[in-house]
Order: sequence, then C-alpha cells, then structure tokens
Amino acid sequence: MSSAFRESVLVIGASGRTGRFVLRYLASAAVPAIACVRNAARVPAEPLLAATEIAVADLTQPQRLAPLIERAAHVIYLAGSERKRLSAGAWQLEIDSLSACVDLAQRSGLPGRWIQMGYSGHESRLPANWAETRWREMKLAADEVLAASTLNYFVLRTGLLTEPVGGEPRVLVSQQQDLPSAELPHNVAAFLLTGVALFLLRAKEPDAPRPFRVPLYPVLPAVFVLMCGYLLYSSLTYHRAHALVGLAVLAVGGVILLFVRASKK
Ligand SMILES: NC(=O)c1ccc[n+]([C@@H]2O[C@H](COP(=O)([O-])OP(=O)(O)OC[C@H]3O[C@@H](n4cnc5c(N)ncnc54)[C@H](OP(=O)(O)O)[C@@H]3O)[C@@H](O)[C@H]2O)c1
Repeated sequence: MSSAFRESVLVIGASGRTGRFVLRYLASAAVPAIACVRNAARVPAEPLLAATEIAVADLTQPQRLAPLIERAAHVIYLAGSERKRLSAGAWQLEIDSLSACVDLAQRSGLPGRWIQMGYSGHESRLPANWAETRWREMKLAADEVLAASTLNYFVLRTGLLTEPVGGEPRVLVSQQQDLPSAELPHNVAAFLLTGVALFLLRAKEPDAPRPFRVPLYPVLPAVFVLMCGYLLYSSLTYHRAHALVGLAVLAVGGVILLFVRASKK
C-alpha cells in the first residue's frame, strides 16, 4: 500500500493502562489513530476518543492485524502480559505475536516507526521473583526481535509503572518532525520552474549572451525537469494540505510578479 494512504497511528494494546493514555494524547493532538483492542468495551467511552477508530483483533491470531498494519504510518505496540502475574501464554504474546506483527510490518513496508515499551534494566531494588524475572527475560527477548528486524524502531525504557499518568495529558504529541519535509513541494516546484525557464528563455531569446552553457543541453535539463516533476507529484500526494499551503504562497508570488510587470508597462 502506498505510504500516501498511511496516515494513522496504530495502537496495539490500546485498552491497557498505557494504551488509554496514548489514545488520549493522540486525540488531543488530532493525530488519526486506530485503537486495536481485543474487547471494544474496554475502550473508555469519552468524548475525546469519539473520533478514534476502534478495531477488534486478538494477538493470538496476528494475521487478523495485517489489514490494520497495512494502513498504519506508525505502530505503537503496548500489548503485553501483566507484569506481576504472568499468565500462561505470556511468552507467546510477548514474543511470538510480536514477531508475527513485526513481520507483517516489514512485509507491508511500514513507513514510520515501530514504538514499544521495554524494560529499563534499572530496577535492582525490586524483588526479582519468578514473574518479574520471566517478565524481564521476555522484554529483553522482545528487544532482540526488534533489533533483528529492518524496522525503524524505538523502545521506550520505563521504570516500574504501577499507576497510569494521571490528569490531563502531559506529553505533547508533535508532528513538528514532518514540517521541514513539508517544505519540499514548494522548493521542488521552484526548481521545476527554473528548469522550465531555461527552455523558454532559449526559445524566446536565442541571441542573448550566454557566458555559461548548460552541459549536454537539452538532455541534462530535461532529465532535471522530469525528476523535479516526479518529486513534486510524490511530495504533493504525501503532504497534501501542508504542501498546498506552500504552493499557494508560491502562486501569490507569481500573481504579484504579474501585477508588477503590468504596472511597469
Ligand atoms: N507497567 C510497567 O511497569 C511496564 C514497564 C515497562 C514496560 N511495560 C510494558 O508496556 C506495555 C504496556 O503496559 P501496561 O502497563 O499498559 O499494560 P496493561 O495495562 O496490562 O495492558 C496490556 C494490553 O495488552 C492487551 N492484550 C493482552 N493480551 C492480548 C491479546 N492476546 N490480544 C490483544 N491484546 C492483548 C490488553 O488487552 P485487554 O485490555 O483486553 O486486557 C491490554 O490492552 C506492556 O507490554 C508492558 O509489559 C510495562
């Protein structure tokens, strides 16, 4: 599936303690999210989450997640087993289901990041009972699954969380990282126009003095114009509304230029 249609953040394990808060953060920042849960009734019925898409799938059947992963720009994987009381099947959930989902993400060409919570390794004060020891082993094995993948991943290493983060969302989910690349369309449009101008000026002013001659004219500038055209097309389909703002500024500049020329005449 083209990355142009992968705009949502898929939250797997969205009904858990952490998952609910992640959903609220995403909703507060108006980031489209798909909450993947095994029981839809566990998603809080809050106005803030009204626009959040809810998809029901159990990780014991990871193939069911394939269509969701194919639509995701990023995946936040928060499904896991209870830390203090490991249930039967914990290893299958933490490692086998994770591996299957990671595999689906790789095959679908996940464009963004795979994010999950891992073991911080700094909790020696905790009594390392059987469940805790096994939990840590599973988290380290989960790290290895990701390290062996080709995904762009991020493991958030937390301490022991016994309480969810209370109150209003304190984490600002920012899409700022995408903003510099949102400038690409109008930068590329300016390059494209420069390339086209070369052909127009050659035709309109064939006898103008040319102290510098373009090497391999017309092949090299034609390739340049075609490449800019393709970059413009793909960046427009990716950035959509952001890109149109930049192009609108460029268009306003064009209109001003026409007015200035007309007034000089
Ligand atoms: N709490 C900590 O101290 C700590 C520290 C570091 C890392 N982590 C890890 O961070 C992650 C999130 O932690 P948390 O405290 O939010 O955990 P949590 O409240 O126990 O949430 C776990 C989530 O996994 C889902 N889940 C369990 N089995 C599933 C299955 N077979 N199919 C689909 N979903 C399934 C649960 O769904 P239901 O709602 O239906 O049960 C729940 O949404 C876990 O992997 C945890 O191990 C936790």
